[in-house]
Amino acid sequence: ETKPRTPVLWLHGLECTCCTESFIRSAHPLAQDVVLSMISLDYDDTLMAAAGHQAEAILEEIRERYRGNYILAVEGNPPLAQDGMSCIIAGRPFLEQLQEVAADCKAVIAWGSCASWGCVQAARPNPTRATPVHEVIRDKPVIKVPGCPPIAEVMTGVITYMLTFDRLPPLDRQGRPLMFYGQRIHDKCYRRPHFDAGQFVESWDDEGARKGYCLYKMGCKGPTTYNACSTVRWNDGVSFPIQSGHGCIGCSERDFWDKDSFYDHV
Ligand code: SF4
Ligand code: SF4
Ligand code: F3S
Repeated sequence: ETKPRTPVLWLHGLECTCCTESFIRSAHPLAQDVVLSMISLDYDDTLMAAAGHQAEAILEEIRERYRGNYILAVEGNPPLAQDGMSCIIAGRPFLEQLQEVAADCKAVIAWGSCASWGCVQAARPNPTRATPVHEVIRDKPVIKVPGCPPIAEVMTGVITYMLTFDRLPPLDRQGRPLMFYGQRIHDKCYRRPHFDAGQFVESWDDEGARKGYCLYKMGCKGPTTYNACSTVRWNDGVSFPIQSGHGCIGCSERDFWDKDSFYDHV
């Protein structure tokens, strides 16, 4: 409480803004407590009151004043094709803004699957060359917090850890915080006893579906997906995709969009 609040600059590239939508719904800690008491969210063109030149001036001022001491949070990614023309921020390609702000930050948080892996806009043939953040920022630590979007409490939990301990959280080989991405959905899924007993949903609305059997045969990607959905859950711990009757599509995994997670056209 006595420490000065750490400045956070939150940039938006090619994305859908639902990572922000998720973040503002964090219940533990409350997103408003994070924003008002823990960090100083000095730039976020989605949440801030300022706009246009005023907003860009704030970004410049904070970057100068807190050189080497701010955290860069990135939602979305830079598209590299056609000189970055598919994502223009303040009249410039997003890549330029990203590299400029990253140059003076102490660490980068890559929010969501867009920033971490590219996500659906990087789906084959990736016409805009949407590119994950770690591939264009190579001289700073990049903490990946994947998911489409990530769970709100995972997002605020990562920030809380960094502020409390003044260090990066322990990461796995892919750069994801182990405390939230150390286990597969399948490891803690409440339908797991049905998987172990060979009780599967065979078609939507069959007897097995009504009994809550395992969704593996309906395409559930829980056995290969590292995320906290089956433990932390969503909406303040209320539920998660599998609990609402659909398998996991592996939305936090690299290339999930090109790996048969979605239905074929019929
Ligand atoms: Fe939206 Fe998903 Fe990208 Fe987040 S990761 S900005 S939820 S498309
Ligand atoms: Fe595993 Fe999915 Fe079955 Fe759960 S529903 S036990 S995650 S395969
Ligand atoms: Fe995504 Fe699977 Fe969780 S689809 S929200 S990782 S259950």
